[in-house]
Amino acid sequence: MTGIYDDPWAYELACSFRDVAPEAGVLLAWCARHREPDAAPVRTVLELAAGPAEHAREFARRGLAATALDLNAAMCGYAAKSAARDGVELDVVRDDMTTFDLGRRFDLVVTMLDSTSHLMTLDAFVAHLRRVAAHLAPGGLYIVEMSHPRDRLGDDGPSVGTAWTVERDGVHASVRWGGPDDRLDPVTQIADDRVTMTITETGTGGDAVRTIRDLVPYRFWTAGELDAAIRLAGGLTAVARYGDFGDVDLTAPEAWRMITVLRAAA
Ligand SMILES: C[S@@+](CC[C@H](N)C(=O)[O-])C[C@H]1O[C@@H](n2cnc3c(N)ncnc32)[C@H](O)[C@@H]1O
Repeated sequence: MTGIYDDPWAYELACSFRDVAPEAGVLLAWCARHREPDAAPVRTVLELAAGPAEHAREFARRGLAATALDLNAAMCGYAAKSAARDGVELDVVRDDMTTFDLGRRFDLVVTMLDSTSHLMTLDAFVAHLRRVAAHLAPGGLYIVEMSHPRDRLGDDGPSVGTAWTVERDGVHASVRWGGPDDRLDPVTQIADDRVTMTITETGTGGDAVRTIRDLVPYRFWTAGELDAAIRLAGGLTAVARYGDFGDVDLTAPEAWRMITVLRAAA
């Protein structure tokens, strides 16, 4: 079976509900807010577990020196090709976000869309944060976007299932991430999320339909566990937490993400 991450085009289509350019703008605004007041503008950015590297490509489009890192060869190839197609310079590295060693430091490191859910153990999370700290310039920021804890601990119980549709360039896709029967294991905090994506391409002389099915293991991390991992790792301090891209408090009813801003020692 080919997984959703082995089909970067389909994955990017599934995630096209996001407004990547405004999100990148907010990430840079947070840099201005949370770095030292006299810090030089952000020039170098590293996106970890970048997948198709949409945010890294947007930073590159804005003239920053951008690097994208992912474990999956198909994702890396797709990110590099997309950047070349768009005429933006992007450094793409195939590596593991718990062990990478690029030999250089960045003003900003980001991990988007819950990709830290692929870190299954506390040791893996701490190793990841230590690698991030080793790659941040003094006073640099690490911004990590996770799903909102309400998704797993809210009144609706630990079963999370979201379904949405997207439309792009004559292609329609309906996506379901997490089935009604998917359960979070209360001991490991891992859920095997059932993913189904049905893609319909119109205008091909008869609609072509393709279905991708996958089982994606996701580890749910609480805010407290993240704080503990940050202290264990050392070198980083949590300086802010937001419930969305903007000034949304994590506890606000409209909060639907958990975005933490970490700063390296100046
Ligand atoms: C949910 S996708 C998110 C992609 C991207 N962050 C985005 O916002 O679209 C998760 C990505 O994490 C990558 N990944 C999983 N484990 C990884 C690891 N240990 N190191 C680097 N990348 C990893 C997968 O290959 C996949 O591309």
